Amino acid sequence: MYTRIRSTGHYVPERVLTNQDFERMVTTSDEWIRARTGIERRHIVSPGETNLDLCEKAARSALGAAGLGAEDLDLILVATTTPNQVFPNMGVLLQDRLGGHGYPCTSLESACAGFIYGLAIANSLIQTSQCRRALVVGGETLSRITDYTDRSTCILFGDGAGAVILEAASEPGIIATHLHADGAYKDLLYYPSGISLGFDRLRESRDFIRMKGGEVFRVAVNTLSQLALETLEAAGVTSTDLSWFVPHQANLRIIQSIAHKLGLPMERIVLTIADHGNTSTASIPMALDVAVRDGRIQRGQLLLFEAFGGGFTWGSALVRY
Ligand code: COA
Repeated sequence: MYTRIRSTGHYVPERVLTNQDFERMVTTSDEWIRARTGIERRHIVSPGETNLDLCEKAARSALGAAGLGAEDLDLILVATTTPNQVFPNMGVLLQDRLGGHGYPCTSLESACAGFIYGLAIANSLIQTSQCRRALVVGGETLSRITDYTDRSTCILFGDGAGAVILEAASEPGIIATHLHADGAYKDLLYYPSGISLGFDRLRESRDFIRMKGGEVFRVAVNTLSQLALETLEAAGVTSTDLSWFVPHQANLRIIQSIAHKLGLPMERIVLTIADHGNTSTASIPMALDVAVRDGRIQRGQLLLFEAFGGGFTWGSALVRY
């Protein structure tokens, strides 16, 4: 039993923050942001718009592309670090929005690698016949935990959601997934407060994402380059066999460094960072859907997904689309 990607979908909120907008908010420039990150604009939720709204639209887009409804699913996994509420989990909330009943739904909190973790878990459940068709969503409203007075972080993050429908198939599909984590890096990229520690310990009003950008950058490049080689080697393929590399869209320079180490031309990399910024766990399914819908990604092609984020957590998926 194998798993294939039946369809994809994504949604970004209408409101856009450009680099020029940031020039009016903090001491920065369009030139600096483009040169250091590759980002030109990012989509941001409006007041009252939530992560669940984004996830619902992305899920409906993937369901619509497959001609399926919520009753045709038997699993929903939502990867996110910005859930609407603590519980019920985002999977259950999404199931209710879509009109599904009875089958298991949950959410995964693995920062930017969450979608890859979700893909791996859904793939395992399908391969062991515990379900036949799964909706896996990555959705974030990072704008709700971003400090818009901190120029070193606020220019990076955006909001959005991406979704895939996975289903049982007689051929792969998902060829392999590789997951990793190392909590020793927990202090390099994190959100400081929560239910059990208590909210708002460090500031009078709200907490925000904290990041040691330079160190995150260095570990991300080394880790993701090694992970790509590990994934390709384990599957007995090389970077020349890849039709498309669909990386987590955190920073164009991180992606360029990995591409250089793999000997992969930039023309075979799906890039959405200029338009989306870093949307954490939503970035890979969003980029995937963009490239599927504009016709770059075709059935039968070999794809490599790779993500890295807070924890650190990181993971890859090698997929025959
Ligand atoms: N505009 C202008 N200058 C800025 C700036 C901004 N938005 N943000 C930081 N700077 C300044 C710094 O204050 C520093 O000034 P100084 O030399 O006078 O102290 C200078 O630019 C260099 O800062 P540095 O942090 O070394 O820049 P960098 O090249 O490392 O780029 C990041 C900063 C955040 C873009 C980069 O480190 C990065 O992308 N890291 C990875 C982050 C990431 O991907 N996180 C998510 C992982 S999933």
